[in-house]
Amino acid sequence: MKDIKIITEHWGKIDPLKIEDYLGVGGYEALGKFISKMKPEEVVEEIKKSGLCGRGGAGFSTGNKLESVANNPKAEKYFICNLEESEPGTYKDRLIVDNNPHLLLEGIIISALSIGAKRAYIYINGNFEKQKEILERAIEQAKEKKYWGENILGSEYNLEIEIFSGAGAYICGEETALINSIKGNRGEPKYRPPYPTQAGLFGCPTAVNNAETISNIPWIILQGGKEYAKIGAKNSPGTKLFILSGAVKNPGVYEAPTGITVKELIEEYAGGIQKGKEFWFAQIGGACGKLFLEKELDAKLNFSVGTGRDLSVQMGSGSILVVDKSVNIHDLLISWTDFFRRESCGKCVPCREGTFRLWEIAKRFRDNKISDRDKEAVKDILWTLNNTTFCPLGKFSATAFQDAVEKLKIWK
Ligand SMILES: Cc1cc2nc3c(=O)[nH]c(=O)nc-3n(C[C@H](O)[C@H](O)[C@H](O)COP(=O)(O)O)c2cc1C
Ligand code: SF4
Repeated sequence: MKDIKIITEHWGKIDPLKIEDYLGVGGYEALGKFISKMKPEEVVEEIKKSGLCGRGGAGFSTGNKLESVANNPKAEKYFICNLEESEPGTYKDRLIVDNNPHLLLEGIIISALSIGAKRAYIYINGNFEKQKEILERAIEQAKEKKYWGENILGSEYNLEIEIFSGAGAYICGEETALINSIKGNRGEPKYRPPYPTQAGLFGCPTAVNNAETISNIPWIILQGGKEYAKIGAKNSPGTKLFILSGAVKNPGVYEAPTGITVKELIEEYAGGIQKGKEFWFAQIGGACGKLFLEKELDAKLNFSVGTGRDLSVQMGSGSILVVDKSVNIHDLLISWTDFFRRESCGKCVPCREGTFRLWEIAKRFRDNKISDRDKEAVKDILWTLNNTTFCPLGKFSATAFQDAVEKLKIWK
């Protein structure tokens, strides 16, 4: 199972700018199968059977999300592909576009049609100019082949696809802020419920899915949900793109089955720790990720949402930063806190103020000017960020700092 590749199978072997190359490796066959042999509800059922869960971080069941929108009686529905990807250390979604844009596009078309959407949006980070151009070209080529537009492949299905370029704000990856952004409002999160599946874009039922999640769908339609469910961890099956960076010999993006351990990824995929460097800890899931010490590296990477999942480590977006003992913790603390201070959308006071105060304290710590009062204040700020902020970004901003205090014992 370790060798199975769903997303990266054709990377480097086909020209991403030529639809013929994708067609040559079985591209758009899943769409053809859907149009000629399947009903939309059968597609949703197959995705449910696969056990696919969201690769954007939260791990929510993709089948359940699509079903919830499909079953909504409202006539107007939307499908949105989330290509925001501002999480530091995470660059897997844009690599999908760089290497095989039609795989993503095919997944978008199938998903949108399966829920009865007539319009799909690709919400792309405004800084991803290259990926936007690649997608524009892929979309144009797919239209010529009648894979989207009116009467797809001669059927009754119609679908419009639009790329929407955001300004490149971390919070706009959060689905309600993303929807606000498409509507032309400030990129701020909204209170849920109602969830986007009930009342999302323009008040209509909307499925928002991550680009990696969506890229699994053509495989599931061709091979069947049952086959997909056999790969990786039982309770969050499939493969996952892991992004390894820091003190490893071969940093990069690797596709591996879920349930793999952090140690296996570092040793077997990324070539181990660089010569002369000594492992200190690994941060899993980007700037908002927890810190793991050497003794914890045998934990399996999984999704933790819902009860009953064989959770070991919440893998989030799949990024793993390997930090060695030569790294200056002051630099890291400042980098984490500065990121969240900058990216806080400012809607709620605990996050707007708390992220700023943490950054100030991190700077005093670096300058050897930290007081006992600062250390006490950190406890209060972390509690406040964890318990009172409006959206998960506030909680995210506390995670690494908290682990640095508790696990790395930075001020003892
Ligand atoms: C602060 C914040 C940033 C997020 N950024 C992204 C992102 O860049 N890409 C993404 O797919 N999901 C991101 N999410 C998760 C989305 O809100 C949503 O759960 C996801 O797009 C759903 O797709 P999935 O079910 O396929 O994972 C973010 C969530 C939060 C709270
Ligand atoms: S927690 Fe931060 S990002 Fe979320 S709403 Fe409050 S200020 Fe905005």
